[in-house]
Amino acid sequence: SDSVQKELRSPICCIMGHVDTGKTKLLDCIRGTNVQEGEAGGITQQIGATYFPAENIRERTKELKADAKLNVPGLLVIDTPGHESFTNLRSRGSGLCEIAILVVDIMHGLEPQTIESLNLLKMRNTDFIVALNKVDRLYGWKTCRNAPIGKAMKLQSKDVQMEFNNRLTQVITQFKEQGLNTELYYKNKDRGETFNIVPTSAISGEGIPDMLLLLVQWTQKTMIERLTFSNEVECTVLEVKVVEGHGTTIDVVLVNGVLHEGDQIVGPIVTTIRALLTPHPMKELRVKGTYLHHKEIKAAQGIKITAQGLEHAIAGTSLYIVGPNDDLEDIKATAMED
Ligand code: GTP
Ligand code: MG
Ligand code: NA
Repeated sequence: SDSVQKELRSPICCIMGHVDTGKTKLLDCIRGTNVQEGEAGGITQQIGATYFPAENIRERTKELKADAKLNVPGLLVIDTPGHESFTNLRSRGSGLCEIAILVVDIMHGLEPQTIESLNLLKMRNTDFIVALNKVDRLYGWKTCRNAPIGKAMKLQSKDVQMEFNNRLTQVITQFKEQGLNTELYYKNKDRGETFNIVPTSAISGEGIPDMLLLLVQWTQKTMIERLTFSNEVECTVLEVKVVEGHGTTIDVVLVNGVLHEGDQIVGPIVTTIRALLTPHPMKELRVKGTYLHHKEIKAAQGIKITAQGLEHAIAGTSLYIVGPNDDLEDIKATAMED
């Protein structure tokens, strides 16, 4: 019944949009990291994953004084590339998530990969919010570091507010042309039918608290069934890569269930998990760093797995676990269908 507290897993959120709209920079702003500046040419070329524990989200949203009751353990955010040549990675990322952040540069409006991302989300009926990013580039913007957007907006001159409203109106019109209703989130009376827009700056952090709170509140409110923890392992390979000292490893997203050291995995190789590694919370999985070792890990998480034979693993496929009552041949057959 409703009164029974169900154990929830962390929602998975995918950040998508046109190249250079500020997806990685937004995550850097929340993490307090500098991943974007370390990227070749400033371009993301891989899917990333970062785990944000609930306590960090609570801290970051406290100024909103909302009823920030967090029932989920955290939020797993998947970063995707915006460059046109990475459609497959955007598709893979959006296929893993329950909610997405569609990032739009307020100075540019909707761009080709914004629309492509939108179509991927529509196709899977995935809920999303729009981050209208780079508000600090509005002429005369007064920095209000990490402030909720309502507070930051009140501090702006009439001219800045007018430029903001003009650009916002244009973006809303462009979404309308794509068949979607959107509205500034604090004016949106029709959530669910009308998608929320959150103005943000990845450089000075305005609007970040609002963005985080919206993600957590909305998923907790509308996706309880889907977020209820299940023991059925659901796991997707993001990347196959060689890591010094570990040989060939795979980066995976564990969507549901638990993985243990020593688990036999199938897909399409059959091998045994030697080590389960994660970056520290608030650190990017795709960036080289120190890893935490785990005996077991619960979903949702981004995990690096080491094992023998992983050079034969394939990005984009599912991993299956051979349980005590499972038939290896059946599972192999299922894995071959991927
Ligand atoms: P791809 O992953 O390559 O598609 O790009 P991205 O969407 O992750 O954008 P990225 O984080 O690489 O940022 C692109 C450029 O925009 C960088 O030079 C950032 O410093 C800059 N930028 C990102 N967000 C903001 C912002 O809010 N304000 C300003 N002024 N610049 C920003
Ligand atoms: Mg990026
Ligand atoms: Na970029």
